[in-house]
Order: sequence, then structure tokens, then C-alpha cells
Amino acid sequence: MTPAEAAVAELRGALPADRLIAGDADGLEPYGRDESDLGLFPPDAVVRVRTAEEVRTVFAVATRHRVPVVPIGARSGKSGGSLAVRGGIGVSLERMDRILEIRPEDLTARVEPGVITGRLQEAVEAHGLFYPPDPNSLDLCTLGGNVAENAGGPRALRYGVTREYVLGVTAVIPTGEILRLGRRTIKGVAGYDLTALLVGSEGTLGIVTEITLKLLPRPRHVGTALVVFGSVGDAARAVSRVLAQGVIPRCLELLDDVSLAAVARTAPGRFPAGAGALLLVETDGNDPDQVLGEIARVADLVSAEARGEVLVAQDEAQRREIWEIRKYLSVNLRAVHPLKLSEDVAVPRSAIPALVERAKAAGAGRGLAVATYGHAGDGNLHCNVLYDTPAERPAVDAAVAEILRAAVDLGGTITGEHGVGLAKRDFLEYEQGPEVLALERRIKAVFDPLGILNPGKIFPGG
Ligand code: MLT
Ligand code: ZN
Repeated sequence: MTPAEAAVAELRGALPADRLIAGDADGLEPYGRDESDLGLFPPDAVVRVRTAEEVRTVFAVATRHRVPVVPIGARSGKSGGSLAVRGGIGVSLERMDRILEIRPEDLTARVEPGVITGRLQEAVEAHGLFYPPDPNSLDLCTLGGNVAENAGGPRALRYGVTREYVLGVTAVIPTGEILRLGRRTIKGVAGYDLTALLVGSEGTLGIVTEITLKLLPRPRHVGTALVVFGSVGDAARAVSRVLAQGVIPRCLELLDDVSLAAVARTAPGRFPAGAGALLLVETDGNDPDQVLGEIARVADLVSAEARGEVLVAQDEAQRREIWEIRKYLSVNLRAVHPLKLSEDVAVPRSAIPALVERAKAAGAGRGLAVATYGHAGDGNLHCNVLYDTPAERPAVDAAVAEILRAAVDLGGTITGEHGVGLAKRDFLEYEQGPEVLALERRIKAVFDPLGILNPGKIFPGG
């Protein structure tokens, strides 16, 4: 018997029968992929846990047999964080999907990790409340995955990323402790901030089984506008001018010329001739005049660079139409080139034009097109290297490596929201240096002395 087989046999005796998927290649296969395009890495078994105690049982068995434990959420991750690269036991949180409470009087919610992000948003909005983090995948990604990756999204510009909303978590760590970290209060500075450490640790320090989130009152009005520019440089300059004048819209999303051309294929004539970039601007607040006033202020600030009028959505249908350009961009890009590798680098905002240029050059030198779009307001851009056949993959990987290094050289980071995972572990040292990496490895070893939790992620060489 292999160690994994022995662990599965023991789990079969320790947990209710409906928790375990094992010995069924077809049943395990879906748990072996995500949205990273890194390949298929199914675990030897999957346990669909229902409680923190069951996670503890999995760790105890895995520790006895020295087999890996890999947390698995909605499998919508983009950096391979949930792939069982060394096999082992997948811990799926999909059945822990209850919203445990929403407390309007405290502006908090308590949830299990398998709750779909968009579902929580709808639930709190019914109470007049607001949970801002909005990854593009919010209809299918889960809060547990968002916590693991410290997910962002377009609204991060004004509202910040997931970490800013996590007040506390319950986490089970490989040594078997069930830790209640953080608090339910807005303020609280007791001890080290282990909650913040867990958020964004990409499932390598512990498995989160409950999350307490901070909520905000829901802004009652939203204004949405579209602005076209002749070039990415013009659009980037416009972004800088808006922010420098102290206007922080809730979203400031950019599409470059390659992205725009892909969108224009399905909607010819939609953009004026010579359109080379686009900004999507959104503001919010409780006073409709102030919300529209802010859009007008943005329109004024970008007028020197913009081509044509700023298009302001007049109703919800127009607002949706504008957002669909952004939402279905990936689909439209794939219609031009069926394959693409999407990066999520972030740079200081002043470096956006340089980054776009260097990303294009990294592709062009290898005969590849690069589409850059994303959260320009906070300098977090998705550089998508486009290609047609798997044979081009080595050239694509080389272009991506050049883009990641360019981001760091420009004072930025290799990942603004998708995580290091498997995809970018060879580049972490380039950004952080050997001392920081060594300290991070020591922290990992405190939580996981045997290295059984999600091995092969974040750190080069596993
Ligand atoms: C997005 O902003 O659309 C997502 O982070 C996914 C991506 O395009 O890479
Ligand atoms: Zn994004």
C-alpha cells in the first residue's frame, strides 16, 4: 500500500461515507484543474468536509502517513494554488457554504468558506449593506478562495481588497490546532495580526473554516462612464491626472488597443475611428448629484486626452452594457486567439505606460500579441499573452517571464491579485530577495513543520 492509499483507508473509517471521493478517476478529475491553464493535477482522494473538526481529522491522518493536504475551493484560481501537484488528500470546502449570520447593527457577517462571493453580496445588499471586493469571477468564486488569495477586483481602487474586510477567521493548521484568530470588532490590536497573515497565504499555512467580514452601508447611487482615447499612453496619463486631483472613483478600468480590437470585432462601429484605448469609470455615493458631479469632474480632467464625448450610462441597462465590454473581454480575446496566459502584475501608477509598452515588446519579440487590460486605477494590470497552439507555449512562458521581471524593475510586483501559487513561484525571489524568502519559509515551517500543507506552492523548488 502506498502512503496515500493507507491514508485513504484510514479516512474511510474516520469520516462519514459521503465525505470521501476516492478510487474514482472521473470523480477526482474536476478537482485537479483550475483557471490557471497549468494542467491537470488530481489529488488521490477528496474529502468534502463539513466542519473544522473534520479538517483536523484529515490533518491527523495525513501527518501519520506523510501525505500532502491540498485545500480546494471553487477551482477558479488563476495561479494553480489548489492543484495537487504531489497528489495527496484534497480538502474541498464546497459543502461549507452557509452564511451563518448577517449583523446589520454591527456591520459584520459570519460565513463558511464555501459561500459564493456574489451570493454574500446579494444577501447583504438585501439589508442595505455592502461587501465591496468584486473579483471578476464573483458568480462562482468563494469567500474562502478570496481569503486564501486576498482577492481584489475593480472596486479595490476605492474600497481595498479582501484583507481589509476580514476581521477574523477560524483556521485549522497542520499541527492540529483549531485557531480562532482576529475579532468581531472593527478595532483590535491584541497580539500579532495572524488574521492578516492567513489572508493571502494561498492555502499554505492553514485551512480557513469560518470568516468574519466587515461590511459597509451600501452606496445608494452609482455612476458609470466610458471614455475612449487614441492610445494607452493617453489613457494612462488621464488616469494619473484624475487621481492626482484627488478624485478616487470606485473603478478606473483600462482596455488597451489589442483588447479594444477584440471587443470591436463583435460590435463594429461601436468605438470612434482611431480608438486605441478605453477607460471605464465608476463612482458611487448616496447623493445622486455628487455621484454625477464626480463623473463630470472625471470627464473634465480627461478631456485633454479623450477622443470624443464621455459616454455616461443613463440607466441600469446602459450601465450593464458598458460593464459587459470588460466582463466578456476574455471570451472576446479567445475568439481572436484561442489560448492566452493572463498575468496580474501591479506597478506604481506612473509606470503604467512603461509596463504596457514593455509587455507589448516582450510579446512582439517572439511574434506574440499581448492584450493589456484591468485595474489601471490601482496600477494592477492583466497582461494577456495570446497564442494559437500549445507549440507556442515555451515562447509564451518566456514572454511572461520578461513581463514579470519588467513589473518588478518598474517598482511593482509579480502578482497584484491572483497569487504566486504554482505559476509564479520561480519569480518570487526576484521580487523579494533571498532573506525575505528564507524568513517566509521559516514562518511556513512553524505552521506546517512537516511540509504537508499544499506543498510546491509559493516557494521556488517547492
Ligand atoms: C479580471 O480582472 O478580469 C480577473 O482578475 C481575471 C483576469 O482577467 O485575469
Ligand atoms: Zn483582475
